[in-house]
Amino acid sequence: MIQLTEAATLDIQDEIAVITINNPPVNALGYPVRKGIADGIDQVVQNDQVKAIVITCKGRTFMAGADIREFGKPPLEPMLYQVLETLDECPKMTLSAIHGTAFGGGLETALSCHFRIAVPTAQFGLPEVKLGILPGAGGTQRLPRVIGIDKALKMITSGNPIGATEALQDGLIDEIVEGDLKEAGIQFAKKVLAENRPLIRVSQNDEKIAAAKGNNEIFDHFRKSIARKTRGFQAPENCIKAVEASINLPFKEGLKRERELFTELLKGHQSAAQRYVFFAERQASKIPDFPKDIPLLDIKKVGIIGGGTMGGGIAMNFVNAGYLVTIIETKQEFLNRGLGVIKKNYEITASKGKMSTEDVDKRMSLITGSLNLKDLADVDLVIEAVFENMDLKKEIFSKLDGICKEGAIMATNTSFLNVNEIASVTNRPEYVLGLHFFSPANVMRLLEIVRGAKTDKSVLATSLSVAKKIKKVAVVVGVCYGFVGNRMIAQRGRETGLLLLEGATVDQIDRVIFNFGFPMGPFVLSDLVGLNVGWDDKSSSGSTIREVLCEAGRFGQKNGLGYYKYEQGSRTPIPDPDSLKLIADFSAKKGYEQREIGDDEIIKRAIYALINEGAKILEEGIAVRPSDIDIIWINGYGWPAYLGGPMFYGDLIGLDKVLETIKQFHAKFGDVWKPANLLEKLVAEGKGFKDLT
Ligand SMILES: NC(=O)c1ccc[n+]([C@@H]2O[C@H](COP(=O)([O-])OP(=O)(O)OC[C@H]3O[C@@H](n4cnc5c(N)ncnc54)[C@H](O)[C@@H]3O)[C@@H](O)[C@H]2O)c1
Repeated sequence: MIQLTEAATLDIQDEIAVITINNPPVNALGYPVRKGIADGIDQVVQNDQVKAIVITCKGRTFMAGADIREFGKPPLEPMLYQVLETLDECPKMTLSAIHGTAFGGGLETALSCHFRIAVPTAQFGLPEVKLGILPGAGGTQRLPRVIGIDKALKMITSGNPIGATEALQDGLIDEIVEGDLKEAGIQFAKKVLAENRPLIRVSQNDEKIAAAKGNNEIFDHFRKSIARKTRGFQAPENCIKAVEASINLPFKEGLKRERELFTELLKGHQSAAQRYVFFAERQASKIPDFPKDIPLLDIKKVGIIGGGTMGGGIAMNFVNAGYLVTIIETKQEFLNRGLGVIKKNYEITASKGKMSTEDVDKRMSLITGSLNLKDLADVDLVIEAVFENMDLKKEIFSKLDGICKEGAIMATNTSFLNVNEIASVTNRPEYVLGLHFFSPANVMRLLEIVRGAKTDKSVLATSLSVAKKIKKVAVVVGVCYGFVGNRMIAQRGRETGLLLLEGATVDQIDRVIFNFGFPMGPFVLSDLVGLNVGWDDKSSSGSTIREVLCEAGRFGQKNGLGYYKYEQGSRTPIPDPDSLKLIADFSAKKGYEQREIGDDEIIKRAIYALINEGAKILEEGIAVRPSDIDIIWINGYGWPAYLGGPMFYGDLIGLDKVLETIKQFHAKFGDVWKPANLLEKLVAEGKGFKDLT
């Protein structure tokens, strides 16, 4: 065996050479790997005895993408594209034997070989688009030649991986093998040689793309099919253009085009934002000065109090992860309704073929319903999700204190209320915290973990670990009214409400917020949720726009009239002169003089209000770091990932410019716009939020 580099060996057995990569932890394609493959091929080409080269990897996976340890350093030759060209043009047979994941550069390496085999558990993907870039080492040119245009477009623009069975069906791999992978590679190579099969040089094999040449419809159709999902993102469009080049240009020209499109993305702010979000998400669960070896509590049984909108969704998260769940309600009728909604949700999933009917039964069998709080005596974690009412929550927590076993975590899903006050009614405030899920709780990824003044570290660490198990993106936040997300969105709500009174129209504000990149504007959203949620006709006094609309019988989509009107059975909002008149009359009554308001003012007032509040949240220590706020906004409030979150966006605009505008608003609109001290400090020091991380 020859040691090629510290990360690669060459082993020649008769007519087969095996290059083994060993670059822990994930066999990233750093210099010693690239050089190892290049040198190995060089030696083999000169060895007349050898007829085929098998490339395989040690450790838990096939080659991963680029080595992050090399980021920011001068590039060292051979570059990946050069190694892949050598593989592709190798006069002797090349074969990748794959286990674990072949993602990004790893898959591009495999695609440059003449054949590919894999173990049944292997996965294949080009995830670059998720970081706002595209596969830049020939992936967009080779994958369509291997699996065809449609499948390649889907894989490259979604970034989602496929498994070995699908890869075999698509022709991405030639065989699924069991047992020792290296040995299977050698046997496969011998078989190909014995059968005298021609080497398949992917770059020269246009068979699967020939039919698509000159057929622009395929691309037009595909663009339309992903338009809604990828709205605002640049990378998917550049991916499509690169795949177009694979059929319209000769291979080498296509590679050049791919590079151009890649460089364009790399230089743009979207990929910077998306890469930032990638790392920010991984950082969010780390609490500074928190020892790693905190003992975790064992969580197996979960109790949920309240089987309404949130309780039901929260229960589904735990059931999906295999926890036993007890749901407590006040009446059998409410319990039945709650369990019924959960079952229906699972049945809908099953009807889409994403779950079997046995799975539905299995999941439902993990849930027990009860009307007796005492049935929570043996649960390890309780999450309270009853009405948003402090007295009710306190009553429940003081009862729980007498019921729950020692060491049980007691959490509240409150949206706004003071977790310390709730904890204060128990004799064990160290076991109390907020677990703030977002609606629909079974879908939304965000979980704000609200750390109370007395919450024990092991309770917090356990909650973070449980969050991971139920596949949530958890962010630890401190206690204040509305925590991070709701406290900030209240600022945006205030401004969009005032803008209405000052003369902007409902659909203008919604259009501007939608075009900024949010999934919908605030008024379409209010109509969807229902204007009368939490509204009480007895105490309503026509003192807000919402009260005025509700008093006029406008409850939102549910009755076809809200900020907009809706035709029967339709969810399309239609601007309605009647609601505008109600708003204009209310505005006049309140003494506002309505004026023309530009889109730019709407953006600045809606978004800078978030940035200013975010800065206050940071200076109060409610959020640990600016990127945590951004993760909350991306995963809980639909902020577009390509703009990185409100704090990233503030830096992008320039905090000096943001502050200048905030000061103007302060002078014009009063103290709600008082600039955050932190913002003033950062600007004075010539710094951005990024310098706080
Ligand atoms: N809906 C949201 O978007 C959202 C998002 C995040 C957090 N929250 C918070 O979650 C909590 C619940 O909100 P929701 O939207 O699910 O409300 P909901 O009205 O849909 O559900 C509340 C449920 O609690 C039950 N309940 C009331 N008192 C009870 C008691 N003493 N014991 C057992 N069950 C009782 C009710 O019967 C009802 O089914 C609130 O604190 C709310 O602020 C809501």
